Amino acid sequence: MRFVLLASIVFAFLSCKQETDRPVAEVSSKQAIHAKNAMVVSAREEASRIGIEILQKGGNAFDAMVAVEMALAVTYPYAGNLGGGGFMVYRTQYGELGSFDYREKAPLAASKDMYLDAAGTYISEKSKTGGLAVGVPGTVAGIFAVREKLGTLPMEVLLEPVIRLARKGYVITEKQAIRLNEYRPAFDSVNRNPSIFSKVYVAGDTLKNNALASTLERIAKNGRAEFYLGETAEKLVTFIQDNNGIITKEDLEAYEAEWREPLTFHYKDLKVISMGPPSSGGVCLGQILKMVAPYPLQTYGHNTVPYIQVLVEAERRAYADRSYYLGDPDFVKNPIDSLLSDSYVKARMDSFSFEAATPSNSLTHGTISGYESTETTHYSIVDQFGNAVAVTTTLNSAYGSKLYAHELGFFLNNQMDDFSAKPGEPNIYGLIGGSANAIEPQKRMLSAMTPTIVEKDGALYMVVGTPGGATIITSVAQTILNVYEFEMDMQTAVDAARFHHQWLPDAVRYELGRFSDSLVNALERKGYPRNTQVDPTIGKVDAILILPDGTLEGGADFRGDDTAVGF
Ligand code: DON
Repeated sequence: MRFVLLASIVFAFLSCKQETDRPVAEVSSKQAIHAKNAMVVSAREEASRIGIEILQKGGNAFDAMVAVEMALAVTYPYAGNLGGGGFMVYRTQYGELGSFDYREKAPLAASKDMYLDAAGTYISEKSKTGGLAVGVPGTVAGIFAVREKLGTLPMEVLLEPVIRLARKGYVITEKQAIRLNEYRPAFDSVNRNPSIFSKVYVAGDTLKNNALASTLERIAKNGRAEFYLGETAEKLVTFIQDNNGIITKEDLEAYEAEWREPLTFHYKDLKVISMGPPSSGGVCLGQILKMVAPYPLQTYGHNTVPYIQVLVEAERRAYADRSYYLGDPDFVKNPIDSLLSDSYVKARMDSFSFEAATPSNSLTHGTISGYESTETTHYSIVDQFGNAVAVTTTLNSAYGSKLYAHELGFFLNNQMDDFSAKPGEPNIYGLIGGSANAIEPQKRMLSAMTPTIVEKDGALYMVVGTPGGATIITSVAQTILNVYEFEMDMQTAVDAARFHHQWLPDAVRYELGRFSDSLVNALERKGYPRNTQVDPTIGKVDAILILPDGTLEGGADFRGDDTAVGF
């Protein structure tokens, strides 16, 4: 093991030094973790362990979801949250499927042009940092609804280890110290009050969050109403308004999370269960996988020129449709059946040829026959009963709006940036959109989050998801293909090099140093320009594969501090 690690470091060093045909960065030497009964894979070891602790107390995957979600809010403030929202896809031990939407909503006072100045120019910063960027948070409503409908243990029991962790503190990892110090100037410029995040941290320091522990204690005692009506609500609204935000008490009172029909489709003999609108994740994942299904991907080989061509062309077409058709189903009709129909998906790839790329400016959304009547973190859980949970939750970009409610102990989201602030104007992820995703009071902003569960022969096969903004959908697609088409184990599939295309900008993003120059040049010659934006990494997938004998195999992305824990 040590030798492998050393060898890979030496290889990475040597190959950085020379112009080489080989990829210059080496992959992880992380081994897949196996467990007989249950497994939690998340962005932080403490959160995965708390999830397992709840399962070992007799709780189920939904109880563990509540505890893991809150443990990430404590230990992974980069994306874990009380001030954000998310989506959950689940499959019970009895094979019942469901999905749950606790996405943020636009405040009642929001309006279509709220981020434009008098001349109609989009002031991009306003939807990204500070109080005006904040959508009405859904996470606390989310955990209460999940526990009530599907959980078995009392909320106090689920929150007890989390509160203990917030008081006792957690050890800052090296990656975390780098991130906290990188964003400290942004925290300082957005926030008027110093906070625990104003300090300089080095790896090994312990970070205690007593304010968050107290907020969680009040929530454990007073329930959901504490956050949406009680002392926490009062303090939160005052704080947001003091920081130029428009969220009111009425907004918090009116917030409701929604149980929604999951989005399902077939890829060969797999049944894929994913998140429907207001996430674009499931629809685009379905379009991409269905568009590539007729091609002999195994014959092309993993990450070869023809493989990347086919996937990029499918991604280009799916993201063009996303930007035109998709939005909050409570406000717009999403033509899901048409977009996923076999004939539509097939016709969409008719314009593709291996000779040359389809330029994005020659491609727009497809024509459907009609509308039928309708920095983020992901964790995957399978419990000892066979229930499976895939959750992606977010503040949007790193530490959300950077606005930190210091008295309450948490960051607030900048999810408003996921709306299309002005037709044709890209958001943080370069995604553009139109009227389906325009801002309206109480509307949910379109997401790319793709928590996904896969069945094979009617049995649970995989639980998967990732952060990564626009790249979420394509990372999930590649991970499923890595396992199913290229027979990788779960860890190798998660760690494998990834690429991404999203229609506009018309360029392929490659993980830095993981694709050879000759491959990227060959694709460029065919009309696939590389993106000049440097992507050190793409996505951070946490997944569980169920092996034929029932053993659970974890894949915790080596790109982060992600950890699989099982028993
Ligand atoms: O909902 C979405 O699609 C985005 N707000 C997700 C943000 C994200 O993944 C950031 N992580 N890198």
